[in-house]
Amino acid sequence: MMAATLFATFEPKRQGAIISFLDNNSTNFDGLSELENLVKRIGPPKWPWTIDAALAARGNAIFERDSAEGGCGGCHGIEDGEQRFPFVKTWRTPVENVGT
Ligand code: HEC
Repeated sequence: MMAATLFATFEPKRQGAIISFLDNNSTNFDGLSELENLVKRIGPPKWPWTIDAALAARGNAIFERDSAEGGCGGCHGIEDGEQRFPFVKTWRTPVENVGT
């Protein structure tokens, strides 16, 4: 495992119509890439106890409600996002102020 650096110098510079993101950038791209690959593999945590099917069904009903009705799936549901690269899927990530 490679040591990860938490902070980096990052000073993007406008060069005419182009913004150079690599100008004066100390980001540890190897470490960042290793962490991103780990996040892809790690998955959600497993519920360590026996799942109560009746309670899970009640929770699922809440999850599936509209956001305006207190549901969760509108923001936490996993849906395909825009196709940005060939053969690479993205997640739809809504951008909104949720007041946190
Ligand atoms: C309007 C969008 C939206 C809705 C609807 C929503 N969430 Fe979230 N939720 C967020 C965002 C954005 C964050 C991250 C907030 C932050 O880090 O400040 C979050 C964070 C969380 C977290 C913390 C996750 C973590 O790893 O710390 C939990 C748990 C959670 N939401 C559960 C729910 C549940 C349960 C519902 C439905 C009852 C719900 N959310 C509905 C947007 C939403």
